[in-house]
Amino acid sequence: MKIFTDESLYEILSWLKVQDSELIEFEILNPDLAQNSYVGATLTCNEKTYRYFSYKALSNLAEILFCKMLTPRISSVCRVIIRFKKLDKQRSFHTITNSVKEEKYGSNSNFADINKNEEPSFLSAYLKALESVKIKDKKQILNLGINRGDEFELIRTMLGNKLFESKKFIGIDYSKSAIDVARERFSNLHVSLHVKDINKIDELHLTPSDLLISIGTLQSSSINFKPFFMKLMREYLSGNGAVILGFVNCRWIDGEMIYGSKAPNYNYSEQTLLYNDVMFCKRYLQQHRFRVTLTGKEYLFLTATKIG
Ligand SMILES: C[S@@+](CC[C@H](N)C(=O)[O-])C[C@H]1O[C@@H](n2cnc3c(N)ncnc32)[C@H](O)[C@@H]1O
Repeated sequence: MKIFTDESLYEILSWLKVQDSELIEFEILNPDLAQNSYVGATLTCNEKTYRYFSYKALSNLAEILFCKMLTPRISSVCRVIIRFKKLDKQRSFHTITNSVKEEKYGSNSNFADINKNEEPSFLSAYLKALESVKIKDKKQILNLGINRGDEFELIRTMLGNKLFESKKFIGIDYSKSAIDVARERFSNLHVSLHVKDINKIDELHLTPSDLLISIGTLQSSSINFKPFFMKLMREYLSGNGAVILGFVNCRWIDGEMIYGSKAPNYNYSEQTLLYNDVMFCKRYLQQHRFRVTLTGKEYLFLTATKIG
């Protein structure tokens, strides 16, 4: 068993990077022995000097190495065994192609195993965005790329059935199987769900909405992002309307949400495209008298509300 005492993270990372087993184990100072220390602090235990790393830092380290951190085991008074299990990068909807492009995110896809609402960083940023746009006051809410309706489900939980039912909800997605699940979920409620290519939104003859939500959808290759975004703002947002756009800055791999979006032509997370689109929307909205905030982590939330 490899034991680290006062080695730096550089040395630990260098060692971890050359391990090729599925399960990597190493011993370090038990993080619970440190109080109020920042990572990297040197501490003494049983007359031996150790460098301290928190569980949060170790979990981040596992993520950076495309590993899942398993439950540590206490090995002695001073040390714990840290266990990293390598993720199977092939177990991801990103790598699986469906012959029917509309069903890449359908109810039978790997994407259907993902529950974003149960990820703390997603949930807290989305809830904050809904509070910022004053969801309680909105009458008509349009969601593009609604999939099976998780984003509406959270609004229902937040507002309660009575307030939820007093509003008009519209959802669009070209995945029929995902919309079928959403229809079942919101049957008897005031939710209109359309199986439709978003590029053909005009065919639905919708009136402008008070709130436009689109998470992880507008940047998809089937949509010409910038012109489509401007069209939406001009034609589908009411005078006092607000916007919540969620930009994906992560990958879903083998059960884990891994920070950092993957751009074409790069084999690591490169985020120029992401920030380019985010800043385009921010500038456009500010020029059109919106107050714009940017929050979130694995999902960046651009939230815009009208000034005055
Ligand atoms: C990454 S998923 C995000 C779904 C959901 N908003 C979420 O975050 O869980 C993108 C969704 O947009 C839909 N989609 C992508 N391009 C579309 C298009 N051109 N027209 C309609 N739906 C589209 C997909 O079917 C999928 O449900």
